[in-house]
Amino acid sequence: MQTHGVAFTGSGSARVRAGLSNDDLAQLVETSDEWISTRTGIRNRHVAGSGESLCSLATEAAQAALTAASLDPDDVDLILLATSTPDDLFGTACQVQAGLGATRAVAFDLTAACSGFVFGVVTAAQYIRTGVFKNIVVIGADVLTRWVDWEDRTTCVLFGDGAGAVVMQAAEQDQLLGFKLHSDGGMNNCLNLAYQPSHQALVNDVTTQRGTFSPITMNGREVYRFAVSRVPEVLEKTLFHAELETRDIDWLILHQANQRILDAVAKRLKLPNERVVSNMAKHGNTSAASIPLALDEWVRAGHIKAGDTVATSGFGAGLTWGAAIFKWG
Ligand code: ACO
Repeated sequence: MQTHGVAFTGSGSARVRAGLSNDDLAQLVETSDEWISTRTGIRNRHVAGSGESLCSLATEAAQAALTAASLDPDDVDLILLATSTPDDLFGTACQVQAGLGATRAVAFDLTAACSGFVFGVVTAAQYIRTGVFKNIVVIGADVLTRWVDWEDRTTCVLFGDGAGAVVMQAAEQDQLLGFKLHSDGGMNNCLNLAYQPSHQALVNDVTTQRGTFSPITMNGREVYRFAVSRVPEVLEKTLFHAELETRDIDWLILHQANQRILDAVAKRLKLPNERVVSNMAKHGNTSAASIPLALDEWVRAGHIKAGDTVATSGFGAGLTWGAAIFKWG
C-alpha cells in the first residue's frame, strides 16, 4: 500500500464573546476568585450566548485554519469534528461542512470528551497515511456550559466554551512523530454527562425512554489522580516509540483542565515551565477545544514556529487519554 506523510499546515480558533470571571461566579455559588485560581489556575472562561452555537464556533475555527493553511474549502476531503456537545445528536460536522462551503468533504463527529482532539488528529493521520485523503480539517469544539449545573460549585467553576482547528495535509515528510491512545471504561463513572430517561408508557407493555441529559458530574479527586499518573506515562511511552527525549520537546500542550495537573506533569517529565503552554486562566476547561485553541494562540503569538516539536496530550471522560507528538508547519 502506498503511504504518505502528514503535515500540520494551519491552525485557527473561534472567539466566544461573553466572558465569565471568577468574581462573576461568586455571585452564583459560594466560591471565590482565590479558591478557583489557587486550586485550578482558572480566572475566566467564555460562555456561548445567543447567536453562537457549537456549529458557528467550529465553523469559525475551521475557516481560520483553512485561511492560515492557504487551503480552499473546495479542496477539503474530510472534516472531523471532535465534540461531546453537538447542536444535533445526529452530528454537527455536516452543518460545519455546509457553513465552510466544503462541498466535496466527508464530515462526521467524533466523541472522546477532552481527548477528542488528540483522537481526531490520530484518526485523520490514518486517512492521510493510507492515501485515502489529502486535506483534512480536524476541529475540537465544545459548549460544555450548556450542560453544567450552575448550582454545583465543584464543577461549574471549571468549564468554558471554545473551538480550535488544525489543517492536516499529505506531505512527503511525515511530521506526526508518534502517538498513543487509551480508554478505560472501568472508570467511566468518574466523569459523566449521562442520558437521563423519563419513561413513558406507549401501548401494551411498550415503554419509551424520552428524556434529556443530566448535568456534568465528576469525581474531581479521582480524575486528578488519573491525570497525573496516566498523562506523563503516555507521553513518556510516545516519546520512547518516536525515539525522542524530553529535551526534544519544544512545546508541551496538555488538555487545559487544571494548572496543578500541568505543573505535576512538567515536573515528572523534567520539562521547564516556559515550554508548557497554559491558557486556562483565560478560557477554563474547554474540553475538546482546549488543545487546538492553545496551539492556535501560541502559533499566532509567534511562539510556536515551523519545525518546532509539539507534544500534546488529552485526557478526560470515558475515561480516555492519549498523546500525539508532531512537528509544526
Ligand atoms: N469554591 C469553594 N470551595 C469549593 C469549590 C469551589 N468552587 N469546589 C469545591 N469546594 C470545596 C469542597 O466542598 C471541599 O470542601 P470540604 O473540604 O469542606 O469538603 C474543598 O473545597 C476541597 O474540595 P476538593 O474536591 O477536595 O478540591 P480539590 O483540591 O480536589 O480540587 C478540582 C477540585 C479542582 C475539581 C480538582 O480535583 C481537579 O481539577 N480535578 C481534575 C479535574 C479534571 O482534570 N477534569 C478533566 C477532565 S474534564 C472532561 O473530560 C470533560
